[in-house]
Amino acid sequence: MQKLLVTGGAGFIGSNFVHHALTGTDYSITVLDKLTYAGNLASLKGLPEDRFTFVQGDICDAPLVDRLVGEADVVVHFAAESHNDNSLHDPRPFLDTNIIGTYTLIEAARKHDTRYHHISTDEVYGDLELDDPQRFTESTPYNPSSPYSSTKAGSDLLVRAWVRSFGLRATISNCSNNYGPYQHVEKFIPRQITNVIDGIRPKLYGAGENVRDWIHATDHSSAVLAIIEKGEIGQTYLIGADGEKNNKEVVELILKHMGQPADAYDQVIDRPGHDLRYAIDSSRLRRELGWSPQFSDFEQGIENTIRWYRENEAWWRPQKDATEAKYKEQGQ
Ligand code: NAD
Ligand code: DAU
Repeated sequence: MQKLLVTGGAGFIGSNFVHHALTGTDYSITVLDKLTYAGNLASLKGLPEDRFTFVQGDICDAPLVDRLVGEADVVVHFAAESHNDNSLHDPRPFLDTNIIGTYTLIEAARKHDTRYHHISTDEVYGDLELDDPQRFTESTPYNPSSPYSSTKAGSDLLVRAWVRSFGLRATISNCSNNYGPYQHVEKFIPRQITNVIDGIRPKLYGAGENVRDWIHATDHSSAVLAIIEKGEIGQTYLIGADGEKNNKEVVELILKHMGQPADAYDQVIDRPGHDLRYAIDSSRLRRELGWSPQFSDFEQGIENTIRWYRENEAWWRPQKDATEAKYKEQGQ
């Protein structure tokens, strides 16, 4: 039985991963999570008690991290400050968690020779023009735009250096935009769904032309499992599901499935430095590890996600007012 240490397992993708990884395997999982505003223990309900342990703590706490990494066979590092808009208003926590936190984990993994998988983002590559025929690949140069993406890029480079200089047994994955259950209402899709539920018009930054490459969080989870089980040490894998859509299309889809007119949204102040387009070429992952996404119908995925937020109001309601108050202060 493999023992996984999953950091950030009470967050959006981490919790989806924990549910996925404990189904159909005999893994046991310890989650290490600080429970920041983005962590929610309610996302970890219903897991098998004999194979799941939760530890509240900070990935920058070196003695705690050293002990937990020493007890694990594999570390899967999801914990991060993850929201671009927050990073534009208060970058400091991004440096602490994304850079120092990663450093703390890889130092412990080096000491104990523990297998380490690093979760990262396509945002490290910067953005593409709308008509660029090329997509991001594992060899695209790094060119991050925001405090968030620059700290993620920095953390990736630390991992690469630890592989080369210290022989860290690590892999890295860079994934595109995730959607699905348990996503914080600060993020685009859940913000608009819960706005409509509350009778607030969805808020589109600028003209809504920016393109994101959407993937369901369950497909991200299955890709990470494939990399842990079959990935080559020292390699980077891009994870994506060919899901490019511009933001206006996504808002219109949400409005359609929530019984609203297609133009029932507001345009608000654009995000400074707003990346125009992300697009992932995930051929290596598909070719070398035999992975493929299962959630290929985005419209169906959005319908299911709307249903989840309608049926799980108790999960998101406590975060909603404070999140909208913060956006209002920023004119968004
Ligand atoms: P999230 O904000 O929903 O969750 C982050 C989790 O990390 C929370 O539970 C939080 O409590 C925890 N955390 C934060 N700081 C911590 C610390 N110092 N110590 C311990 N725990 C801490 O984030 P998410 O959207 O689930 O993203 C998870 C990972 O996936 C991140 O590394 C992010 O960069 C990456 N990623 C996200 C996306 C996306 O679309 N959301 C896409 C690609 C990659
Ligand atoms: O690409 C992967 C990244 O995707 C991850 O690394 C990040 O952790 C994750 O937050 C996400 O970053 P984005 O900035 O793309 O996601 P966000 O949900 O904040 O915004 C998606 C798009 O929608 C973006 O173009 C900004 C826009 N937007 C966002 C909000 C919150 C709006 O138009 N209106 C909004 O209210």
